[in-house]
Amino acid sequence: MHFEFQVEGGNFSKAGTASSQLKKILKQLNVDSRDIKRVVVALYEAEVNVVAHAYQGVIIIDIDTEKIRIRIEDEGPGIKDIDLAMQQGFSTASELVREMGFGAGMGLPNIKNNTDELTVTSEVGKGTNVHMLINFSI
Ligand SMILES: Nc1ncnc2c1ncn2[C@@H]1O[C@H](COP(=O)(O)OP(=O)(O)OP(=O)(O)O)[C@@H](O)[C@H]1O
Ligand SMILES: [Mg+2]
Repeated sequence: MHFEFQVEGGNFSKAGTASSQLKKILKQLNVDSRDIKRVVVALYEAEVNVVAHAYQGVIIIDIDTEKIRIRIEDEGPGIKDIDLAMQQGFSTASELVREMGFGAGMGLPNIKNNTDELTVTSEVGKGTNVHMLINFSI
C-alpha cells in the first residue's frame, strides 16, 4: 500500500494529520498496537520537524506485509551537523516554535528510539530527507 501526504511549513494546526491518518490505516490492518505506537510517534516527530523547521515537505509511505517504510522529504534550510542534531536536547527552534510547546530537542532522538532503521540526509540551503523503516507484526 502506498500513501502520500503534503506538509506545510509553519502550519501547526495541521501538524499530526499524516500520523493520525496512518494510525487509522494500521489499526484497520490489525497491526500490533505497540508497533502502531512506534510508527505514529516517529512520523509525528518527523512531521512536526517539517512544520517547525522547513518550508514544505512530502511524506511517502509504503506498507508491506511486515514492514513500513516512510520517507519525509522537505525543502528547507537543511541540517548543518546531523550528528549534533540527533543528540538529545539539541535544538535551533525559534522563539515562536518554543511558544507552541516544541523545541526540546527530543524529536530526532525519539524517532531513532522508535524505528528499526533511520537515515537522515540533508543539504544545507536545500532540504532534509528522513527515511525510516519499522518492522511490525500483525
Ligand atoms: N526537517 C528539518 N529541517 C531543518 N532542520 C531540522 C529538521 N529536523 C530537525 N532539524 C534540526 O535538528 C534539530 C533537532 O531536531 P529535534 O526534532 O530533535 O528537536 P526540535 O525539533 O528542535 O525539538 P522537539 O522535536 O523536541 O520539539 C532542530 O532543532 C533543527 O535544528
Ligand atoms: Mg522536532
